[in-house]
Amino acid sequence: MSKHLIKRSALVASVLLSGVVASSALAADIKAGKAVYDKACFACHKSGVMGAPKVGSKDDWSPRAAQGRETLLDHALNGLNSMPARGGNPSLSDDDITNAVAYMLDSAGLELPAAGGKAAKPAETKAEAPKPAAAPAPAPAPVAKAPAQKPKIQFNRLMKGRDEWNPPPAEDGIHDPDNEGTYMLQPPREGMAGFASGISGNRVDWVQTLDSGAIAPRYDRTDPNKKPFVMDLNIVREVKGSMPDVVYPHKQHTEWLDCSNCHPDIFIPKKGANQISMAAILLGQKCGVCHGKVAFPVTECKRCHSKKKKATAFKE
Ligand code: HEC
Ligand code: HEC
Ligand code: HEC
Ligand code: HEC
Repeated sequence: MSKHLIKRSALVASVLLSGVVASSALAADIKAGKAVYDKACFACHKSGVMGAPKVGSKDDWSPRAAQGRETLLDHALNGLNSMPARGGNPSLSDDDITNAVAYMLDSAGLELPAAGGKAAKPAETKAEAPKPAAAPAPAPAPVAKAPAQKPKIQFNRLMKGRDEWNPPPAEDGIHDPDNEGTYMLQPPREGMAGFASGISGNRVDWVQTLDSGAIAPRYDRTDPNKKPFVMDLNIVREVKGSMPDVVYPHKQHTEWLDCSNCHPDIFIPKKGANQISMAAILLGQKCGVCHGKVAFPVTECKRCHSKKKKATAFKE
């Protein structure tokens, strides 16, 4: 746990969160924060499950506060180990979260550190008038500052950085972190080590991974010996305009899927008999029944539009 605390860079957080910090630097509302806490944080922070700092415990909260406002709020907003982003409640605003953190610190006799400040303030200073933003920064915190780390994704702080893909089951927002069975599941990053890497979804190129023999999925749920009937037939769909033509490969599909997944409900099995357009695909029809849901998404244009026409500007 503490390893993570140090690893996450306070510097990154302050860059990414500077907007949040500026807008709510002096605005933490402890009463409103209690309401948020009662609704969204108390389930873990009352009893301290999984090491959550307990409400009312100065021992638990002092070292957290010492990390400084930016780090604390970054973790509350974006998550930390078993702490889900925004307490698992994405509808809570930045101010709700700031207030709830301020409330929990207050319950422990601490104050939310000021923007840019590092050290926790003891409660006695609380009675004073709100400090102007220009108050001199307190002495540097005892906590070592993490070495400058590459920012996650600078242009979009909601986008997950590489080290956040495929989180372990207890942190993925799908499995119950309170169930000990969750901790017995193999983390995906360990299970998928050595798979061909992709650029979307779970970052695995499943076509190449199957080709490489790294996986041998069972074709039939009940019959372990059943083999797929692989049909190697490409259907080229010409595309008007400059976009490369679409090659629909039966091979890559029938390695995973039975003919009945597509024929006849999604596609009439006759070349050219089906009207297919990007609009339909984006609406989740035709190829879009799977692509963007259980297969690679439409953003990977060139995997479908793979047949270069002459005089096209597109590189293969
Ligand atoms: C599902 C359980 C859970 C819920 C719900 C939850 N937390 Fe947490 N929280 C944790 C755990 C566990 C930690 C300790 C994480 C660690 O240090 O590994 C934590 C730590 C924190 C920290 C300290 C972060 C740090 O950098 O040390 C803050 C702040 C925090 N939570 C705020 C909140 C707020 C605000 C809410 C409600 C909106 C909330 N939490 C809801 C489990 C939870
Ligand atoms: C992932 C969906 C999908 C699966 C699975 C699939 N097909 Fe197709 N099939 C298509 C599409 C798309 C076309 C092209 C339709 C068009 O051009 O309008 C097609 C066309 C065909 C054609 C027409 C070929 C021609 O030249 O006219 C036949 C025959 C066919 N499929 C048989 C099969 C068989 C047999 C299987 C199982 C081994 C199968 N398909 C599995 C999507 C699929
Ligand atoms: C899952 C496969 C797939 C992906 C990914 C994909 N396309 Fe398509 N695209 C198709 C198919 C199939 C057609 C229909 C071709 C036809 O007319 O039969 C099509 C048609 C088109 C057309 C022709 C006009 C239209 O709307 O039908 C354009 C332009 C186009 N795609 C652009 C793109 C761009 C740009 C991307 C990436 C952002 C993309 N496509 C990604 C399968 C795909
Ligand atoms: C029933 C589900 C389903 C439908 C419908 C479907 N696909 Fe796929 N497709 C898959 C799956 C699953 C894979 C393999 C896993 C992956 O690559 O994400 C795949 C793989 C592919 C690949 C192989 C890419 C590679 O790297 O070799 C192409 C190309 C492709 N699809 C294009 C299409 C086009 C074009 C259509 C519509 C004409 C279509 N698919 C319709 C499920 C589907």
